[in-house]
Amino acid sequence: MLLELSGIYKNYLQGSMEVPVLKDINLQIEEGEYVAIMGPSGSGKSTLMNIIGCIDKPSEGVYMLDGHDIGSLRDRALSKIRNKEIGFVFQNFNLLPRQSALDNVGLPLQYAGVPKRKRKERCLKMLDMVGLSDRVSFKPTQLSGGQKQRVAIARAMVGEPKILLADEPTGALDSKSGEQVMELFDVLHEQGTTIIMITHSYEVAQRARRIIRIIDGELLEGDGVKSQPIVTSVPVQAAESAAAEEAEEQTEAQEQIKAEVQSETEVHFEEENIEDNTETDGIKEADGNEETD
Ligand SMILES: Nc1ncnc2c1ncn2[C@@H]1O[C@H](COP(=O)(O)OP(=O)(O)OP(=O)(O)O)[C@@H](O)[C@H]1O
Ligand SMILES: [Mg+2]
Repeated sequence: MLLELSGIYKNYLQGSMEVPVLKDINLQIEEGEYVAIMGPSGSGKSTLMNIIGCIDKPSEGVYMLDGHDIGSLRDRALSKIRNKEIGFVFQNFNLLPRQSALDNVGLPLQYAGVPKRKRKERCLKMLDMVGLSDRVSFKPTQLSGGQKQRVAIARAMVGEPKILLADEPTGALDSKSGEQVMELFDVLHEQGTTIIMITHSYEVAQRARRIIRIIDGELLEGDGVKSQPIVTSVPVQAAESAAAEEAEEQTEAQEQIKAEVQSETEVHFEEENIEDNTETDGIKEADGNEETD
């Protein structure tokens, strides 16, 4: 089993009150699975994703990732595992704005101490894989949404992680760019990558082989529920309209939280970044050699 969550709870402190967000989540995902997570806004999908991605820790419960008991690890060991095992893709791309596509893709390799020449070679290969060979030196502001997301996918996969976590990867894209992203996911799935993807779109979720629903912090389909074509049944419709109502109410609060989570994630990227990483140069190599182009 690649990952296994047992009895996971997550509470947030709201003033002096503990607000339960995830309740007794039990979930097993095998290597190579392609899983979609669906559920109303505010139901806890991103919270669960952040726990799976080792960005956040559960309040209670055990999370085993590729044989490691995540709760028992210290920060350094944790970030090592995270870098090795997991690639992230977010709705709003989270690219570093002042760095080129090439340098954005190279970040995980930089953390891993891969020498510059090798890094460049692998980044070019990844950018080729996502169809952006002609955009390597473009900065995020010079790229379309779909192109930015493909850069983000290249960055997520450059370190060859086993797991790709995607939080609404097509949420900010038009349907054509969304389709290109989904086609890339299909390719990665065929290559054996385990994909866990949050989406609000049934069409997008259909691409996965298994669909999990979260409502109000509880998993509705969990272990062993393999993908079935989604038939829009009455409960699903009820959940959908409840979701729509809830979404309206919560949009503002959610946007704020999302912004916070995203800025935290950026901090996370920047924090771990190598200290003298100004633009492209001055990057320390793992072997201590400074290379010049
Ligand atoms: N840092 C936090 N502090 C307090 N409450 C939080 C925090 N992060 C999330 N929450 C709460 O946890 C609940 C679940 O949030 P989460 O972001 O996981 O929802 P989601 O299912 O991803 O929603 P969306 O579809 O809108 O992205 C929400 O009610 C939210 O208010
Ligand atoms: Mg979310």
